[in-house]
Amino acid sequence: MKEDSEKKYIGLLPQDQLLKLYAKHVNAPKVRTFKGFGFGVIPGERSGIKFKTLAGIKSSDPPLEIYNCRSSGGVFNLGHSNPQIVQVLKDALDSGLDIGDHMLLSEWRALLGKKLADLMPPGITRTTFGVSGGEAIDTAIKFSRAYTKRKGCVSAIGGYHGHTGFALLTGNPEFRETFLWHNPDFKQVPFGDADAMRKTVTNEVSCVILETIPATGGVLIAPEGYFAEVREICDDKGVMLIMDEVQAGLGRTGQFWAIYGGMYPNEKVVPDFIVCGKGMSSGVYPLSTCSYKSFIEKKIFNEDAFIHISTTGGSDLGCAVANTMLDIQSDPKFLEHVREMGKLFGDGLKKIGNDYPDLIKDVRGRGLMWGVEFHEKDQCQISMLQIIKEGVLLNYCGNKKDTLIIMPPLIVQNNEIEEVLIRIRNGINKLRK
Ligand SMILES: Cc1ncc(COP(=O)(O)O)c(C=O)c1O
Repeated sequence: MKEDSEKKYIGLLPQDQLLKLYAKHVNAPKVRTFKGFGFGVIPGERSGIKFKTLAGIKSSDPPLEIYNCRSSGGVFNLGHSNPQIVQVLKDALDSGLDIGDHMLLSEWRALLGKKLADLMPPGITRTTFGVSGGEAIDTAIKFSRAYTKRKGCVSAIGGYHGHTGFALLTGNPEFRETFLWHNPDFKQVPFGDADAMRKTVTNEVSCVILETIPATGGVLIAPEGYFAEVREICDDKGVMLIMDEVQAGLGRTGQFWAIYGGMYPNEKVVPDFIVCGKGMSSGVYPLSTCSYKSFIEKKIFNEDAFIHISTTGGSDLGCAVANTMLDIQSDPKFLEHVREMGKLFGDGLKKIGNDYPDLIKDVRGRGLMWGVEFHEKDQCQISMLQIIKEGVLLNYCGNKKDTLIIMPPLIVQNNEIEEVLIRIRNGINKLRK
């Protein structure tokens, strides 16, 4: 953590004052919710897999040191303030690089597009850039509609692809109804059920969109063969298959792509689109990518090369950062590390599951993405609060509230995994008491 003299941007006001400002000018109900939990976590100093809060549980308490096992869904795959990444951003700024002009061509979009093409499953060679995951999902759905000249879209019940236009239509109704956003062309089916998919995918459907491991939906693991069957269904009906790897991609499962060997070693499915967000930023510069097969491009851009644009999507600075992130995270040694840490973590969580069968119903995951399902929602939510109080940040799945989702940064080390497991166990133990 930094010396006091260097902290020019952290801890400018006491926590109590910041909570008041947040409530008055940003979002009062959100502040009330966190106060209801018994703490108002505002991250202060951050480094590696930990951050410090600005104050403790009470504002007068000293800051808590927290292991970040949320990683903001993969934003912090390389931890907080990763020195290599921070240096790239500083160097790029020092070189005079900026966002760039989206109307022009870009050296960095060309370089990153090539790097992504080299890492993608075969045939996925083009990338359209965005800022957020939702934007990149919207792009994939837009392109599927333009390519197929059909309107339909099939997604998974409980899946989550963002809160933007088309993405919002693929999600659960409770996030849409407030905004009067409904479209009968968008249908949802149970995740992992190939028969339901087959019945719903008609000749009017443009795309099927799925997370490889639905995160908000409960860290669900599809049965072996499911994705290959979905691919077949899409091929039968001329439908695009969009895989959302916003959380499960970029090495999270211990393979670079979850859909390409990350779920089952022998299951390597090639979708038409792969969408990434979150981790593309390395936690310092937002970037999202919608990568797709080259035949799709012709039907989108041939008539009008400017038919889809994003002013800050694919910024030169963001691409420079992502370029280094991809080098680090696609290194076979890095992926081997994720597999090793994942095994240690998964085994530890399963042991906790076995020791508390009265509370925990199932422990499942891949690599460093784990779900712990409780018998009851209340057990899950109370244990989440207890575990946070033990100094480990994690959260329950928004669309499956009986399940905790646990995603440490991919750079986590043995001793940190052991410490986190002790704290998770302590938190769950307090719930039992
Ligand atoms: C799987 C998945 N897809 C898409 C998104 C949307 O990303 P963003 O919030 O950057 O729009 C999220 C965000 O949580 C996500 O988890």
